[in-house]
Parts: sequence; structure tokens; C-alpha cells
Amino acid sequence: MSIRKHVRRITAPDIIARKGGVPVVSLTAYHAHTAAIADLHVDFLLVGDSLGMVMYGFESTVPVPLDLMIMHGKAVVRGSKRALIVVDMPFGTYEESSPVAFRNAARIMKETNCGAVKLEGGARMAETIDYLVQRGIPVMAHIGLTPQSVNVLGGFKTQGRSVGQWTAIEKDANAVAEAGAFAVVLEAMAAPLAERITAAIPIPTIGIGASPNCDGQILVMEDMLGLSPRVPKFVKEFGKVGNAIERAIKSYAGEVRARTFPAPEHTYDTKE
Ligand code: KIV
Repeated sequence: MSIRKHVRRITAPDIIARKGGVPVVSLTAYHAHTAAIADLHVDFLLVGDSLGMVMYGFESTVPVPLDLMIMHGKAVVRGSKRALIVVDMPFGTYEESSPVAFRNAARIMKETNCGAVKLEGGARMAETIDYLVQRGIPVMAHIGLTPQSVNVLGGFKTQGRSVGQWTAIEKDANAVAEAGAFAVVLEAMAAPLAERITAAIPIPTIGIGASPNCDGQILVMEDMLGLSPRVPKFVKEFGKVGNAIERAIKSYAGEVRARTFPAPEHTYDTKE
């Protein structure tokens, strides 16, 4: 008989139930080891297509392939036990039609064993969100700055700076909520607009560069750790991990060159 304690995973309905309550904590994660560290402290981990920029050095998220998201999705699911795992649908895998979106979302769910997918777009994606949810796929929506549309937007720009732009963004928020999304990411959005949306819709809003008064927050893990070379202005660095890695590598290089590197004990047993 197994004595391993069963840990219940957080589900999409658990996240909906947090509307207006204790703020939802989330981060991106791309690997098993960082997922394992974050797992105890977050409600959901997003395998974001930002991995294309953060890990693979692309200029935008546009080139990220579906197979790559699936590989990283599997790693994050393996590394975690408790957090809901949400995997981003990359550009070109869901916009064409609802059946295409279903086929690709179903592949993500079956191959990674994640609990939900995320896709970008508001009113224009509402029909597809409804189609996926009706067929058993929990969907997180993403409005405001939608990085996959960077070539149309002309850059990574804050949305809703002028009040004249608010109505369209509010319509997007209402449309994804009505279509059945269980939460919506509000990215790079004027704070008063994010607060109006949070008060108006029945699903949790997850802010990133939006407002502390959203129902929850998400950050790119490497950005908040101080590990990313280029970080958006709004990001608070909660650590200096890049500096710590450099110090460790420098001292390793020093020990190798000085031949003070510890002698092996002829074993690959791991430390407890
Ligand atoms: O890809 C990503 O990391 C995201 C977050 C920034 C919300 O979509």
C-alpha cells in the first residue's frame, strides 16, 4: 500500500470561487524544478508562451510552437502537486476556428495532464471559449495587452491609457466572462480600467501590470527573481537570482582554476 500523502490539485472551479476573496497568487513556470519550488506558494502556475522570449531568446511570443508548449507543460505538471497548471495556447493554434482550437487544446490537456488552457483575445474569441468550455476544457482568457498581437499593436504598449479606449476593453472582459472563461488575465492596462472590470465581471481578474486591486496577480517568474535581462518597468524584483548565479559560477571557475575544487568521493548519490 502506498503511504504517499495524496495532495488535491487546485481546479478551475476553485479559482472561480476566489472571486472577490483572498487574492489569487500565480507565477509562470517553465520547468519541473522551479514548479516544485513555487508549488506550495501559488494557486496556479502558467506555462506561458513568454518562455519563447525568456528561455529561447525570441523577440516575441509569435514563433513559439505547440510542441514546445507541450514539452514544458509536461515538465511543470511533473514538478508540481498542488497548483492548478494552465498552459498557454501559442499563436496560430486557436484563432482559425473553434474546431481547430478544440483539437489543439485537447492535445495540450491529454499530453500534459494540465488543468486548463489560456488563450489571448476578448470578444473575438468568445465563441471559441464557449466551444471549448462546452466540450470540457477550462479556459483562462487574456485581454488588454495581448503579446501575440504585437505586430498589430506595434509594440508591447499599455492599453486603455485614454478613457476613449475603455469601452472596447470592457466589452472584451464581459464577452469572455459570458462565454464561460474561469478567469481573465488583464495585462498592461490602466489601473482604474482594471478596477472597473474587476468590479463588473463575475470571474476573477488576474493582473499583470494592471492594478493591485485585481482578484489576483501573475508575474513572469524570471522577471520577479531578477533573472531576466529585460524586465517591464512595473515589475518589482523580489530577488537577485541572476547576481547569485553569477557569483556561484565565478567562485566555481575560481576553484577549478586554483585546483581547490573538492575531490570526488566516487559516488553519484545525491545529498539528502
Ligand atoms: O506568457 C505569459 O507568460 C503570459 C503572462 C504574462 C500572463 O501570458
